[in-house]
Amino acid sequence: MLPRCAFSVCHVLVLVLCLSSAEDFDWTKNDHGSFYYGTFPAGFSWGAGSSAYQTEGAWDKDGKGLSIWDVFSHKKGKIQQNDTGDSSCEGYHKFKDDVSLMKELKLNHYRFSISWPRIIPTGIKSDHINEKGIQYYDELINHLLESKITPIVTLYHWDLPQVLQEKYGGWQNITMVNHFNEFANLCFERFGNRVKNWITFNNPWSVAVEGYETGEHAPGLRLRGTGAYRAAHHIIKAHAKVWHSYDTQWRAKQKGLVGISLSGDWGEPVDISNQKDIEAAERYVQFYLGWFATPIFHGDYPQVMKDFIGRKSVQQGLGTSRLPTFSPQEKSYIKGTCDFLGIGHFTTRYITQKSNPSGRSSGSYFTDRDLAELVDPRWPDPGSEWLYSVPWGFRRLLNFVKTQYGNPMVYVTENGVSEKMLCTELCDDWRIQYYKDYINEMLKAIKDGANVKGYTAWSLLDKFEWDEGYSERFGLYYVDFRNKNKPRYPKASVQFYKRIISSNGFPNQREVENWRRKAVETCSSSNQLLAAEEQRSTAANILRLIHDPLTSHMEMVTEIVVPTVCTLSILLSAIFLMFLLRRRN
Ligand code: NOJ
Repeated sequence: MLPRCAFSVCHVLVLVLCLSSAEDFDWTKNDHGSFYYGTFPAGFSWGAGSSAYQTEGAWDKDGKGLSIWDVFSHKKGKIQQNDTGDSSCEGYHKFKDDVSLMKELKLNHYRFSISWPRIIPTGIKSDHINEKGIQYYDELINHLLESKITPIVTLYHWDLPQVLQEKYGGWQNITMVNHFNEFANLCFERFGNRVKNWITFNNPWSVAVEGYETGEHAPGLRLRGTGAYRAAHHIIKAHAKVWHSYDTQWRAKQKGLVGISLSGDWGEPVDISNQKDIEAAERYVQFYLGWFATPIFHGDYPQVMKDFIGRKSVQQGLGTSRLPTFSPQEKSYIKGTCDFLGIGHFTTRYITQKSNPSGRSSGSYFTDRDLAELVDPRWPDPGSEWLYSVPWGFRRLLNFVKTQYGNPMVYVTENGVSEKMLCTELCDDWRIQYYKDYINEMLKAIKDGANVKGYTAWSLLDKFEWDEGYSERFGLYYVDFRNKNKPRYPKASVQFYKRIISSNGFPNQREVENWRRKAVETCSSSNQLLAAEEQRSTAANILRLIHDPLTSHMEMVTEIVVPTVCTLSILLSAIFLMFLLRRRN
């Protein structure tokens, strides 16, 4: 993700001045301050999400092949603390427990992804199909359906088979289109009788920019100025091919939908009376969401991308634009390949015009846009560096989607907030606030006419957060990663989200305040239990060090089931044992 922008005093001043004028701006009839009490349309779908590499663990179990993330995370210095997804939440082994958590929340849907190398170890279907991997997803899907939870399945959440990277250069190579199509067809064949909602790609922006331009993500390539555009070009073609495959071969029988999940921050002009800032903010969104959405809905890249990248390429002395082009046939093949649009949204930026010097060596995705990103220092940022809570940006983004792409059916496929690892805090009041305000802005967008059919809280569990390792926790459930059983504990936001779901929105102020109070009340006792549990596991670790098998019988807990008395007695016996052992030595 993007680094936090440096903030000068001058920017703060500009921003404060502009904020006051922004109040008059009526683009979305938005009223930043007010809360809207009301409910969502009947049948609105509430869910939570995860992805394979971030939660499954079992990286080398039961015949799974390597993915680019297995290899990347095993290289020293790529991930915070050199964390890996090797075991992560052990979701591969604990999926039944996790479905119980979803039942507890009364979720309507669960969004997860299929690990391509788990079911096709080399990525090439004709090489080998791993039936054990298929069996895992079969069981997960069946279990969800038995629990009346609709699976929404992502085919590509970043874990490309390593063989495809080594052999062909991954998404730099057009051959990925056919390999991905074969993988997708295998999924339709094996799971499509039960799965009716398919997402081809998750957040291709990250795959392209962070995987092939900045190299912060796997496969870690830094092909500045060309790598991201080329990867995106192939991903868009792969998406379209899979949509057509479904349309011609499976839709009549399976009657499902195929969409794509795009991520997009909202970009708000710093100075709304300055045309240059307005254009820069529009450019920010077009280079982000529009890069993928415009070809899929309108058949070609946004005009502004073609203009800017084209001009800069000429200034660099290149004969052709660094942005690849689609042939007329490709344009009509790609246009309209979306039954629903998935939106992943977390934050907003203020944007101002900033021309970047052009020269022979310059040219990157970031400099091509000619803009600067700013944040308001008053925006809350409880977790990830890049994630500021700006709820009103969500309504604007959803309205943008409505007007730009012909009001498509939208599922919010990711929205949520993290906290830093250091705060092992189950009383996540700030997350309650974030969900409350963002979900409310989504409700306002629906009242504005946006066709939003479902919402997915990101994420069900704390999990591996890519290059940040386990240092950023997005979960509704806390996961104790230090314990090999990876127990899950509900944060206060679980209670709050559950109430939103059961009321299908926000009935009235008194009730919503009540939910919040109750959620925070219950979590303080859970917090104490977690603290005691952590002390217990520290004591258990000490015991393990002095080779005592005493702890081997300890049970894994999915929820907080260990009563205080029990926790305390384990702790006391551990201390007593240590005392005895010391005396013997
Ligand atoms: C988007 C990615 O799709 C997801 O995997 C990640 O956890 C969130 N961003 C938060 O960074």
